[in-house]
Amino acid sequence: MGTFTLSPLCVLSLFSAAIFPANLGGQRAESLREATRGRFMIGAAVTAAQLDRPETADLILKQFNHLTAEYEFMPLFMETGPGRFDFKRSDRIVDFAHLHHLPLTGHMLCWHQITPQWMFEDAEHHPLPRERALANLKLYINTVVTHFRGKLDSWNVVNEAVSDKPLEYLRDNPALRSIGIDYVQKAFEFAHAADPNVPLYYNDYNVEDQAKLPKVLRLIRSLKKEGVRLDAVGIQGHWYLDYPDSDLIDACIVTLGKEGLKVLVTELDIDVVGYEGADRYKSGIPADVLNQEAKRYASLFEIFLKHQDIIPVVTFWGLEDGQSWLNYTPRIRTNYPLLFDRRLNPKPAYHAVIDTLSRK
Ligand code: G3I
Repeated sequence: MGTFTLSPLCVLSLFSAAIFPANLGGQRAESLREATRGRFMIGAAVTAAQLDRPETADLILKQFNHLTAEYEFMPLFMETGPGRFDFKRSDRIVDFAHLHHLPLTGHMLCWHQITPQWMFEDAEHHPLPRERALANLKLYINTVVTHFRGKLDSWNVVNEAVSDKPLEYLRDNPALRSIGIDYVQKAFEFAHAADPNVPLYYNDYNVEDQAKLPKVLRLIRSLKKEGVRLDAVGIQGHWYLDYPDSDLIDACIVTLGKEGLKVLVTELDIDVVGYEGADRYKSGIPADVLNQEAKRYASLFEIFLKHQDIIPVVTFWGLEDGQSWLNYTPRIRTNYPLLFDRRLNPKPAYHAVIDTLSRK
């Protein structure tokens, strides 16, 4: 198990933070990156299109000091056909990150979604023979990680491998069916072989769930036992106004920290509509709901500050409400999950986070 290592860019950002700590003597910080300085880096999931749009690029640069590619590093967009790779859009994100000295996380190398079917299955969706599937996965990871060697802060190597089903350990997906239970280990080993220096993460949602956390721990310990490089675990943070309970989140971070791992908050957003919620805020969100969201974010950042020693990065899953996946998953509805509204204006939640960070 490797100890957590930060890329040079991360070290530089945190080092500068050590000299100029965030606490401005109670003065209110003027951005998220200023308010979090000296505590943890603050990131956003971004798209190439946002970086090409001056107003969104400017807001990203003002507020954040860490980036994650929201979807353009996903396998389906990288390997457009067997052995055919297209790095145009992902390189655009890398170029922006490098130009502005921002650490960038590649998201992700292995997932059950947005992955070419032929990587693990034949035309009839039958699992490929293990050796063939392993060869496909190795070619993919080796080609992609080699292309970005030295350019990324880190990789989310495997995403959401642990099952949500009570009696099932790993999710039943094409990689598991073709390669077997060690596909997670192999993905990490292929990534490490392609770039021995890049930090490697496992990323999942609902990790704080009391039925899922033991299975995530089982996976972490199995990787550790095999000597796999695993620098951190990402808890995605797709949460709600009143769920999960803050104590569960707090306990999850502590438990993961006891494994000797850093803990990343990788995809933070607050679904204010609710999973079963109809499109009830289509015409606008009531002020009291915005205030509930502000209080929820403030309480979450209290937890992150409490564990800032093991949380190097907190990443919002998007820049502004209109970008969010929560506007179309699990169904089309108008959602308001982030800190900036559709006109890129800061919401009460933004001010609540700034106030929480500035007070400490
Ligand atoms: O906008 C492009 C369009 O230009 C292009 O022609 C088209 C080609 O298919 O793609 C369009 O982009 C879509 C993008 O969302 C828009 O933001 C992609 O198709 C679509 O795949 C992408 O979906 C992403 C989704 O994962 C894939 O399942 C979402 O952006 C992304 O927010 C979501 O994120 C996931 C994390 O990776 C894992 N955790 C859960 C989270 C939410 O599902």
